[in-house]
Formats: sequence, C-alpha cells, structure tokens
Amino acid sequence: MRKRTLAVLAATIAALAAPGCLRAYVFARLPQPVMPPLEAPAGVGSLSAEACGACHVDTYAEWKGSQMARSWTDPVFQLDFAHQGAVYACRYCHAPIPQQQPEIVTGLSSLRPVRGVGEANPAYDEALRDEGVTCAACHVREGAVEGTFEGHEAPHPVTVRADFGSAGDCAACHQSPAPPFAPLDRPLLDVVAEWEAWKANTGRSEDCVDCHMPVVDRALTAWTPAREAHRHDFPGAWSDEMVGQAIRVDEVTRTEAGVRVTVTNLAGHRFPSSDPARAVTIRARLATRDGHDASSEITLDRRVEFPSFTERWDTTLAPGETRALDLSFPAASLGLSTGAEVAVYWSRLHNAIPAVRALESTPTLLHSITVAW
Ligand code: HEC
Ligand code: HEC
Ligand code: HEC
Ligand code: HEC
Ligand code: HEC
Repeated sequence: MRKRTLAVLAATIAALAAPGCLRAYVFARLPQPVMPPLEAPAGVGSLSAEACGACHVDTYAEWKGSQMARSWTDPVFQLDFAHQGAVYACRYCHAPIPQQQPEIVTGLSSLRPVRGVGEANPAYDEALRDEGVTCAACHVREGAVEGTFEGHEAPHPVTVRADFGSAGDCAACHQSPAPPFAPLDRPLLDVVAEWEAWKANTGRSEDCVDCHMPVVDRALTAWTPAREAHRHDFPGAWSDEMVGQAIRVDEVTRTEAGVRVTVTNLAGHRFPSSDPARAVTIRARLATRDGHDASSEITLDRRVEFPSFTERWDTTLAPGETRALDLSFPAASLGLSTGAEVAVYWSRLHNAIPAVRALESTPTLLHSITVAW
C-alpha cells in the first residue's frame, strides 16, 4: 500500500516536471501489440477466416457463431469502446492482427483521456478488422499455419508446436497487467493467474482448451479422414449451458436468522471471472403457510470504478471455493415459513455503463431448487 502511494506521488511530481516523460512511461506500460504483422500462408493466400472456411467448414461455422468472431462488431463492445473514447489499445486484443488496425501507434498525445499518436497503417484491411479474433490471429505465424499435428497433406505449410494452444497462448489477451497507477488489487483480466490458483487449490490439471474447446472426432475437410479435433465455439459468459456448469448449489438450510445457501465454484478460475461487468445473484424466497412471501438476495461480483480503475469490492468466488451465503429474513416471515425456493441468476452486463447494460433485458435463471422444512 505504502509503496504504491509513494510511486503515485513520485509519478505526480514527474508529471509536473516532465509531461512528455510521463506519457512515455505510461505508454510503455499500457497494452502492446500481441503479434507482429502476419503473412498469408502459401496455398491459402489470405488471412481471412472465410478463406480457411472454404475447406474447414465445421470449424469455421463454430467460430463464426462465437464471441471471438464478434469481438470487434459486437454492439456490447462497440458501445463500450465509444464510451471509453475509442482508445487505440482496445484493438490489440479485440482486432489483434496489425493489418486489422488503421494506425500504427507510437506514443501518447494525452493521458486523460488516453489518446495515441502515430501514423496511418498502409496495410490496414477493414474487412479483416471486422473478423475480430480470426483464425489467423491464433494459427498463422511466419507465413505458415501453426498446430499440434502435421496431418494429411495440408495444402498450406503447417508448423507443429507441441504446446500450441496452452494457457500461455491465451494469456496474450486474457491476462493483462493493471494500467500504471491504477489502484487495483489484481489485473482487470486475470483469468490465467486464477487458473494457476485453481490448479493449486484443487489438484486438477485441465487446460483452458480442455474446457473451452472440447474434443470431437471429425474430418477437417470434406476429403480427409476423421481425426481428433476441437470445437471452436469458445463458450463462456454468453453460453447459458457453460455458465450453468460454473456454479453448484450444494445445500440449503434454515438458520436462526434466515436461510444458508452453500455454493461451489466449478469453473477453472474465479466465478465470475474476467470482465467485471458480470454478476451472479443468489435469491431465496420463503414459502409460507398463509401465502405471505419474503425474499432476500446476495450478489457476487467485482466492482471496479472507471476511469480511475478503483477497486470497490470483489466478492467473486475464488478458484475451487465453497462458500456459505447467509440470507437474512425478518423473524416473523421465517417463523411462518414451510421452506424456501432458491434461484441462481446470471447478469452478463450487471456492472456495465447504463447504455451497455440496456442490451440485456433480464437476468438468466441458471438453477432453481425448492426445499421444505
Ligand atoms: C489485453 C487484452 C484486451 C484489451 C487491451 C481490451 N480487452 Fe476487452 N476483452 C478482452 C477479453 C479477453 C475479453 C473477454 C473476457 C470476458 O468475456 O470476460 C474482453 C471483453 C470485453 C467486453 C465484454 C464483451 C461481452 O461480450 O460482454 C467489453 C465490452 C470489452 N472487452 C471492451 C473493451 C474496451 C472498450 C477496451 C479498451 C478500452 C478493451 N476491451 C481492451 C481483452 C481485452
Ligand atoms: C484448400 C483447403 C484448405 C484451406 C484453404 C485451409 N486449410 Fe487448413 N488444412 C487443410 C487440410 C487438407 C489439412 C490437413 C487435414 C488433416 O490432417 O486431417 C489442414 C490442416 C490444418 C490444420 C491442422 C494442423 C494440426 O494441428 O493438425 C490447421 C490448424 C489448419 N489447417 C488451419 C487453417 C487455417 C487457419 C486456414 C486459413 C488461414 C486454413 N487452414 C486454410 C486444408 C485447408
Ligand atoms: C488475440 C487475442 C486472444 C487470444 C490469443 C485468445 N483470446 Fe479468447 N477472447 C479474446 C477476446 C477479445 C474475447 C472477447 C470477445 C467479446 O466478447 O467481445 C475473447 C473471448 C473468449 C471466450 C468467450 C468469453 C465470453 O465471455 O463469452 C473464451 C471462452 C475464450 N476467449 C477463450 C480463449 C482461449 C481458451 C484461448 C487460448 C486457446 C483464447 N481465448 C485466446 C481474445 C483472445
Ligand atoms: C474446469 C473447466 C475450465 C477451465 C480449466 C477453464 N475454464 Fe474458463 N470457464 C469455465 C466455465 C464453466 C465458465 C463459465 C463461467 C463464467 O462465464 O464465468 C468459464 C468462463 C470463462 C470466460 C468468460 C468469463 C466471463 O464470465 O466473462 C473466459 C474468458 C474464460 N473462461 C477463459 C478461460 C481461460 C483463458 C482458461 C485457461 C487459463 C480457462 N478459461 C480455463 C470453465 C473452465
Ligand atoms: C483463440 C484461438 C483460436 C482461433 C481464433 C481459432 N483456432 Fe483453431 N485451434 C486453436 C486451438 C487451441 C486448437 C487445438 C490445438 C490442440 O490442442 O491440438 C485449434 C485447432 C484447430 C485445427 C486442428 C483440428 C482441431 O480442431 O484440433 C484446425 C483445422 C483449426 N484449429 C482451424 C481453425 C480455423 C479454420 C479457425 C477460424 C475459422 C480457427 N481455427 C480459429 C485455437 C484457435
């Protein structure tokens, strides 16, 4: 804490003395490009997902329906991007290939708001930008296609890398340091560090890919034999089925002051994780003999204030955590109760700015359990 205060003070003094130096200091600590300019692989001649999809039909269809394919065009992203002043650095993860970026940014012209300076990118391709995290962002390096397995006479060069798709590859975009001087307790996107903690807490060893890209047996093209492959729909916050698997209600019991609901985090990291817009709400409603009805709820989320990046609270479930949540009720209602109905709701945009929040009409019901006593 003390060290951080001193650092902020020192930085403020530096800012007064030399704003150009401070801008350079901050620029170097903001997100950087996650890959060099890419070269289209021989035999394909394009970086576009559509070109890959001409042969890899199933993989393409899954990716096309995923958040990866929408990472640039999605209205949730676009509204938030505009609200945050269209900061250049957002592009490094949401449209990550240098050819997807209109400018090559080399410094900052302003700190508040953060504004980049640079030059127009002659290789900019707007149609490619709209593909967001496209196939090439993960698979193409040095004019070849990277994968784990050489395969059957692919028409493009394939570079085999045994650890292709390990958490280190996801970290480029899913783990990012806190911005300079931000009073955050941990990075805003922290899922890889959370997953390391999950392995330590639970003794489990699955990779990101094991949960988010399950194995399927299928042919990669219309003319090659079936083999082990991976689904490419990347389910996460927007998949009701996936989120339902992240939390289990273990037990509902009556206590002196109310109802105790015990839940377990089954995801391979914190729950909720990543974007602090997400929230899970556990609500209990008492069933009473005279139909009288009382309810009480607890929301688990991480609240970060923008643009100061101030951490207000973090009640998200730790990796592998089982937590008892005590929901209180007036003694009179509790006395009349014959049981309770417990429901678990998911709100993807709970902590987003109002314009973005309006894109989600109602929370999603994940689980509902009725108990009698
Ligand atoms: C270091 C990489 C990185 C940078 C830089 C980045 N993002 Fe993201 N962003 C991600 C990842 C990864 C996710 C998915 C995490 C999740 O769904 O919880 C995401 C998710 C989001 C979402 C939620 C989308 C949804 O479908 O609910 C919004 C909105 C968003 N980012 C906006 C921004 C804006 C605006 C900026 C720039 C100020 C930005 N991001 C910069 C990596 C990044
Ligand atoms: C003209 C058809 C065609 C096009 C276009 C094409 N591929 Fe392939 N690809 C193949 C064939 C055939 C294989 C080998 C299939 C097998 O081994 O079963 C293959 C294999 C692969 C592999 C497997 C490597 C491994 O780990 O086994 C990856 C990854 C891949 N392609 C990605 C891409 C990407 C990304 C693009 C677009 C940039 C693309 N392909 C474009 C036909 C194509
Ligand atoms: C080049 C950057 C980049 C890399 C590399 C990357 N991702 Fe992502 N990923 C994103 C962005 C950006 C989003 C958010 C899209 C959105 O919702 O706007 C995202 C979304 C996701 C989602 C969906 C999240 C949600 O809330 O729906 C999952 C799951 C995911 N990524 C898993 C992975 C895994 C596993 C890897 C490694 C194999 C990986 N990603 C590698 C940038 C990346
Ligand atoms: C044991 C299975 C498991 C493992 C391992 C796992 N995840 Fe997840 N992940 C889940 C589940 C279940 C959810 C849905 C809950 C949620 O959205 O928070 C999820 C959600 C996500 C989300 C969306 C978070 C949100 O709500 O916005 C991202 C991004 C993500 N995972 C990335 C990763 C990455 C990257 C790794 C590896 C470092 C990883 N996951 C490892 C099960 C797993
Ligand atoms: C976020 C990163 C990411 C994106 C985007 C992505 N892939 Fe993959 N791809 C992977 C990973 C990880 C694997 C599995 C590696 C392993 O464990 O063998 C894989 C595997 C493959 C394979 C080998 C067969 C299989 O399914 O295991 C093919 C072919 C392939 N991808 C094609 C594509 C195409 C085509 C696109 C775009 C439509 C695409 N990928 C988009 C990460 C990605």
